[in-house]
Amino acid sequence: MYPDRVVSGMRPTGALHLGHFHGALKNWVKLQSEHPCLFFVADWHALTTHYDDPSVIEVSIWDMVIDWLAAGVDPKQCSIFIQSRVPEHAELHLLLSMTTPLSWLERVPTYKDQQEKLADRDLGTYGFLGYPLLMSADVLIYRASMVPVGEDQIPHVEMTRELARRFNHIYGREKGFEEKAQEAVKKLGGKLGKQYAALRTAYQEQGHHEALEQARVLLEQAQSLSAADRERLLGYMAGGHKSILVEPRVLLTEASRLPGLDGGKMSKSYGNTIALREEKDAVVKKVRTMPTDPARVRRTDPGEPARCPVWKLHEVYSDDSTREWVQKGCRSAGIGCIECKQPVIEGILREQEPMRERAQQYLDNPALVRAIVADGCDKARVLAQETMRDVREAMGLNYK
Ligand code: TRP
Ligand code: SF4
Repeated sequence: MYPDRVVSGMRPTGALHLGHFHGALKNWVKLQSEHPCLFFVADWHALTTHYDDPSVIEVSIWDMVIDWLAAGVDPKQCSIFIQSRVPEHAELHLLLSMTTPLSWLERVPTYKDQQEKLADRDLGTYGFLGYPLLMSADVLIYRASMVPVGEDQIPHVEMTRELARRFNHIYGREKGFEEKAQEAVKKLGGKLGKQYAALRTAYQEQGHHEALEQARVLLEQAQSLSAADRERLLGYMAGGHKSILVEPRVLLTEASRLPGLDGGKMSKSYGNTIALREEKDAVVKKVRTMPTDPARVRRTDPGEPARCPVWKLHEVYSDDSTREWVQKGCRSAGIGCIECKQPVIEGILREQEPMRERAQQYLDNPALVRAIVADGCDKARVLAQETMRDVREAMGLNYK
């Protein structure tokens, strides 16, 4: 019915680091060649926690888009845009808020967690409580079927699914739905009609989730159907109402394998990051001053890679033979730590080289970045407006 669309967003709250590259952006780059993708700067989301100091948002936005482009996110293959430039997100957020039980928002795990973690900010705000709902609107407005996010965001996507279901249930009712749906099955024709009926049985009676996906594909291919009939038949798979909003599923992004300079999770708040486009000299310096196995005080003391943060970087950046050289050399004190760090430095610089190159043209020509985003906003807006038309109509807001 709707193409297998992918939507994801990122908050602009500072420069991106290599952890973001390994954790999210590499995955985006892969996805853009497989599905229609929409990637956006979640500036309103940043405001939910940084409302008293929005200046970081403004400077981070363009840098972040350049970081994406540097990482290989390709505006020819996907749409890149800024959330606040597609105000339909806010309209859907408002309309969804009418039917969202407060308890759904209060029980989202990040609500209490983040309030505790960011205790220096006052997050007892309406905007912060509603942030998962805004995220749901971000996804539902594009009728996305897939949302690539990390583990911490799973509850938000779950809630998005529940909201879509609830919305369709309340507003997807239609007089004579059953009859109209059966008419539409006839319009599918003999062969497709039979296939559809079989998929519906498989879904309803055996709970086969793939059947829903397959029906989606089947309906998309059925050229003879009107858009309204497609919506009906997709809704008819699940029950007695139209499917106006689409339930998305999580595409779980594996946690970044890239640790920080101290061996812990790479994170701005730990001060252990290497920026995506870090200056070469700074990369060299940061790796050279990394802590190593604390037992290796002198050059002649043998060490143990398992206790050393540098080893974890070898696991990401080095090939087998280099790793063997590290294992042997470290344990026998055959190599020094500076020597051992050299291949890591080279690996990081090699990874960053194409990113630096790609970024340069955008740094030289900021208008190019603005144009890419303007184009992405236009594309996103077309899809968002289409959904909002259907949503307004379903809610009875099309007054004449
Ligand atoms: N909440 C996400 C985060 O903090 C960012 C985000 C906002 C998002 N809207 C989204 C991610 C929609 C995926 C889809 O990381
Ligand atoms: Fe770490 Fe390498 Fe030094 Fe061993 S030789 S302690 S692995 S930096």
